[in-house]
This record gives sequence, structure tokens and C-alpha cells, in this order.
Amino acid sequence: MQCSPYNRVVGNVYILGIESSCDETAAAVVRSGEEVVSNVVYSQIATHQPYGGVVPELASREHLRAIVPVVQKALADAGRSYDSIDALAVTQGPGLAGALLVGLSFAKALAYALNKPLIAVNHLEGHIHAVLLEERRNSKNSISCQTGASSGPQSNRELEFPVLALVVSGGHTHLFLAERKGDSWVYHDVGHTRDDAAGEAFDKVAKLLELGYPGGPVIDFLAKHGNPQAVKFPFAQIKHRDRNPRNRHSPEERRVDFSYSGIKTAVLRYVETHKMRPAIDQRGRALRQITTPSHEDVLAACDPQSLDLVASFQHAMVNDLAAKTLSAAQEHNASTLLVTGGVAANSELRQVFAARGAEAGVPVHFPSRKLSTDNAAMIAAAAYPRFLAGQFADHELTAEAALRLS
Ligand code: KG4
Ligand code: ZN
Repeated sequence: MQCSPYNRVVGNVYILGIESSCDETAAAVVRSGEEVVSNVVYSQIATHQPYGGVVPELASREHLRAIVPVVQKALADAGRSYDSIDALAVTQGPGLAGALLVGLSFAKALAYALNKPLIAVNHLEGHIHAVLLEERRNSKNSISCQTGASSGPQSNRELEFPVLALVVSGGHTHLFLAERKGDSWVYHDVGHTRDDAAGEAFDKVAKLLELGYPGGPVIDFLAKHGNPQAVKFPFAQIKHRDRNPRNRHSPEERRVDFSYSGIKTAVLRYVETHKMRPAIDQRGRALRQITTPSHEDVLAACDPQSLDLVASFQHAMVNDLAAKTLSAAQEHNASTLLVTGGVAANSELRQVFAARGAEAGVPVHFPSRKLSTDNAAMIAAAAYPRFLAGQFADHELTAEAALRLS
């Protein structure tokens, strides 16, 4: 028996999580919302690479092919049988409808056959729980369990509310203000992208410059070799502050929104005006000769002008994300900042957020890089408070491509 992060004494609870919202087929077993016992991620990058982006139809087919072996491996790695898990958790949305349906149908059928409870999880809440899962583990656990004897050096650390969470990935750029309600959290959407997600901008700029797919990791690598000050990219300030302070009561009325479709056009304009097209085409031809180009191969195919452009793009993206997020943190008096989602794996982003958070006196928490991008451990972890609260899905459960978090 142990003291749970949710102020209860409970036995070990093993949840099998399943995630299939985009281009990763993932399954994981997580113990009591805090220990990743197994974590299997089958990435479809190779399938989508030739198209420079995710092809929904292909994603669904790949999920169908991978779901059974991925789930079997997650159980085998955890040393657990189907019978010995306590519940199943599955991503309900948001995401690609056809992709979500594969994981959801599989999880429903499995839960029915095993007569185990099924928990529906919002993918965005999953990303937030990727941070909480590791924080609980690190602080063993001081998020709300103050009486438990804790061992690690970070014991008795409290996660202070209100929490502001930036979920920044290929499909989402969302700011949520989170508060506790019993065992669960409630969320207010206090800002999101008006057009492209930040990760989408990384992927589109990489495609435009013939750097490969996905764009984020390769741009992260290449940016270290260029001058981040070489090209200036101004961003529009999208604020919804009501001029009358008497009207600014709810968090939703103090929104800070993002927009990342313009920067892609600005990069394209820079390419055209600086006559970079021949160098880009040459790089594309060179990299197509290599079956799976490494980051080093891409670097070798880059001229200094491309590297400067990439470094300046990343610098502009990271600084815009950080400036808007820190401004929202101030606006909402946030005590803690969580930054999660695929783009949170970016090294410059981590440095800039950590530095700006320290200046503002707001602690910033990230997931490990492995749990920043899509995985099922975060889905199983997000399901744990719902398991404790008995919030189980019924037989009518279906995928919601545009599911909101509230
Ligand atoms: O969270 P994720 O795996 O899937 C979604 O929910 O969208 O995020 C994938 C996105 C892609 O756009 C990818 O380019 C971006 O995260 N990404 C990065 C990095 N690693 C992945 N962006 C910037 N820097 C990185 N190191
Ligand atoms: Zn995601």
C-alpha cells in the first residue's frame, strides 16, 4: 500500500494506455499514475517522410497493422498479462478521426472481452500528464501527498496552482490555465493558435527548405550551426485584452493567442528574394540519394545561408512562444508553468523558457524528451485520477477529432 499523489491510500493500479491520434501507434503500462513500467512507440515517420507530412489514410492503415504487436510488446515489456491489468485507457481525441478510431475500437473491444473498465483520455490532457507523471516520480510525491515519507532530493516539493500549461506540438499550440477540482484538474483555454500549430511551422519550413520530415528535430540540430540573428521575423501581437478592466473577469477574457502561418510565408519570401532555390533543389536531390539521411547528412548538404535561415526561424519561433506564454503567466498570476508536446523537445526552447521563467520567478517544468512527443504512458497517467474517481467510458464511446479540453 502507498500514499497516492491524490491523497488516498490505494494499492498498485496498472493501467494499459493506448494512443493512436496521429502518426505514432503507442501502448504503455503505467503503475498508479507515476511509474512507467513499459512504453512502446511505433513511429510511422518512414511512411510519411516522402510526403513531407502525415497522410491521414496511410496513418490509419499503419495503426491497424501495428496496434496488436505494439500492445502485446507493451504488456510483455511490463511482464504483465492481459488479466493482470486493472484498466485500459485510450485517446478519444483530438486527432485524425480515422487514426483515433483504430486505437479506440481496439481498446473498446479489449475492455469488453476482458471485462475491465475503459477510460477515455483527451490527448492534450495526456501531454500535460507527461510532465506530472515524471514530477510525481521525482518528488515521490509531493504534489499533494504531503504525509508520505519521501526519499528523493526533491521531496516535499509542491506543484503550486494556478498552473499554466503550454501544449505545443505538430497539431496544437494551446495555453491552458489549470486548477484542481478534487482528484481531477479543470482547464480554461486562455490562448491558442489562430492558424498553424508551432510544430506544423517547423515541419512546413523543413519541407520548403528540403530538410526532411519531421522538421522539428532536424531544425533543432541544424540551428546550432547558424546565426540566429541573421534574419529578423516580426510576429503579429494577437491580444484579446478587453480595454475595459471591469470586463476582464474570467480567464478566457484575458487571452493571448498565437499565429504561425505567416512565418512560413516569410521564409518562402526570403528564399525567393535571396535566390536560394537552386541550393535548396540541389540539397533535395543529394538527400534523395540517401535511404535514411541522418542529421549529419542534412548538415553536410546545407550552405551557410540555409543554416542562418534555419537558426533565425527557430530563434523567432521560440522567442514568440516564450514571450506570449510568459505574458499569459503574468496576466493570470500563474505559479507554475508546464511546457509539453513535441516542440517542447526543442533544446533552444527549453533554454529560453527556463531562463525567462527564472527571471519571472515562475518554475518551469518539461517532460523528458522521450515523453514530450506522442506516447501512451501519458495517456495511462492521465487516466489514473479518472480511475480513482470511477469515471469510466460507456459502450457508446466514440472518437472526437475536435475534442476540447475543459
Ligand atoms: O506531440 P507530437 O509528437 O505530436 C502531436 O501531437 O502533434 O509532436 C510532433 C511535432 C512535430 O511537428 C515535430 O516536428 C515537432 O513536434 N518536434 C519538434 C522537436 N521534436 C519534435 N519541434 C522542434 N524541436 C524539436 N526538437
Ligand atoms: Zn501530441
